[in-house]
Amino acid sequence: MKFFIDTANLAQIREANELGILDGVTTNPSLMAKEGIKGYDAIMNHYKTICEMVNGDISAEVISTDFNGIIEEGKKLAAIHKNIVVKVPMIKDGVKAIKWFTDNGIRTNCTLVFSAGQAILCAKAGAAYASPFIGRIDDIGWDGVQLIEQIKHIYTVQGFKTKVLAASIRNPNHIIRCAEVGADVCTCPLDSILGLLKHPLTDIGLAKFLEDAKKTL
Ligand code: G3P
Repeated sequence: MKFFIDTANLAQIREANELGILDGVTTNPSLMAKEGIKGYDAIMNHYKTICEMVNGDISAEVISTDFNGIIEEGKKLAAIHKNIVVKVPMIKDGVKAIKWFTDNGIRTNCTLVFSAGQAILCAKAGAAYASPFIGRIDDIGWDGVQLIEQIKHIYTVQGFKTKVLAASIRNPNHIIRCAEVGADVCTCPLDSILGLLKHPLTDIGLAKFLEDAKKTL
């Protein structure tokens, strides 16, 4: 399973990258706004900076919702860097745009996927990634990881090449469960990635080793 970080915060991207386990970055308009990135040029420059920091796929989201607008925006985003993947919402014009991008050699990440049916549609259109939002599904009392498992099963039996990118990760257990059910990618906040490190017995064990090591000096 690949690890992407789900943020537009450069310090967090740097920290995850320095850990040596980062395979890519996903962003969205909410994450860009959270960092105070404002205006077309600033947004394009921010994506360029991320592409220069991380050697992996970088998802950059369109904000148009009509076919022509999505295409025009997506072409400009894709021109920033070869690693840009154009993030397109799961709407009717989005599906049409994903097909157009696929036919024109531009890779896409279909975002706001909440059902197996939506995942089938974006795979048929040729999306490189489908992004089911598992945390938001859990929030309304359903099981997000179960959806990842279902989509992965469908893609496998049908031979779709689209990668299942688990998004809206809330905690380390989400990452572990996504790995269990075969997600191709998990895009996570830095806290959830670092949460995988933690175990009280590791801390207790290390303290004891360091204490005992003093006896050997
Ligand atoms: O990038 C899309 C997704 O990961 C958003 O997560 O936490 O806003 O549900 P969240």
